[in-house]
Amino acid sequence: MRPSTVPPNLLTDNPELYEARFPDPDRLAGRWAEDCLGRHGAGPCVLDVGCGTGRDAAHLHGAGRTVTGADISEAMLTHARVHHPGPEYVHADLHGFDLGRSVFDAVVCLDSALLYCHTNEQLDAFLSCCRRALTPGGLLVAEMRNGAYFLGRTELLDVPTVKEFTWRGTVHRSTTVLTVDRTAQLLRRSRVWTTDDGSPPVEQRSAWRLLFPQELRRLLAAQGFEVLELHDGPGPRTEPPWHEGLLPGRTADADRLHLVARLTGSA
Ligand SMILES: C[S@@+](CC[C@H](N)C(=O)[O-])C[C@H]1O[C@@H](n2cnc3c(N)ncnc32)[C@H](O)[C@@H]1O
Repeated sequence: MRPSTVPPNLLTDNPELYEARFPDPDRLAGRWAEDCLGRHGAGPCVLDVGCGTGRDAAHLHGAGRTVTGADISEAMLTHARVHHPGPEYVHADLHGFDLGRSVFDAVVCLDSALLYCHTNEQLDAFLSCCRRALTPGGLLVAEMRNGAYFLGRTELLDVPTVKEFTWRGTVHRSTTVLTVDRTAQLLRRSRVWTTDDGSPPVEQRSAWRLLFPQELRRLLAAQGFEVLELHDGPGPRTEPPWHEGLLPGRTADADRLHLVARLTGSA
């Protein structure tokens, strides 16, 4: 049954469609996460929170790690178990999860999953759960939109963007409008899906926290994390994208934010 907090979402409700819309055939995101873990000497046990279809969790498993993938979407978890086997997949809400105390050497949270924590309380709860789940010295590796990007930049906002792709012979067309809710500090997205098979249009609304780099540092410090890397790329979703051998940047200006933090103390 769908928890009341999760609104319908065409992509996360249809994992195969999600992978078709956001292909990652070279497992760039998983390779980037593995590179971060390797460079900072993470132990083998990894939790991928907001694991989605399981692509990245399975890549980390293939790299020799013991991986648990966690997501709130049952459709995603079912897909992951079938199509990306290896990791254990469990249902969990990133606003509050308890998968056993201090068993993971690293928590990974990719493609803005962390930004589904909309309020300060949800962010604190997420980081506190990560702290409880991690062994001393454990790592948090995350990749997300950069709230600071929208300071003074409006080109992505308030104008409809139309994208089209064909999946299983049906053309899917999405018309997306992004707006900034300054009071809630959220990036809100309205997306209308139409198809050429006569189905009625479907409107879906999502939102992501607009999290600023210095704000993130403060939240992490309050939970006992030391920031090792916080930068805008190169990363798996930057242009040009990251590849092995590239080192982390020093700025946090562009539209993606990449974080590596180590649990050093208690909150
Ligand atoms: C943009 S997808 C990213 C999936 C995956 N990490 C990737 O990079 O392909 C965001 C994922 O977060 C999950 N999610 C959203 N809200 C969540 C919550 N409160 N707790 C756990 N997972 C959540 C969604 O179901 C979805 O699978």
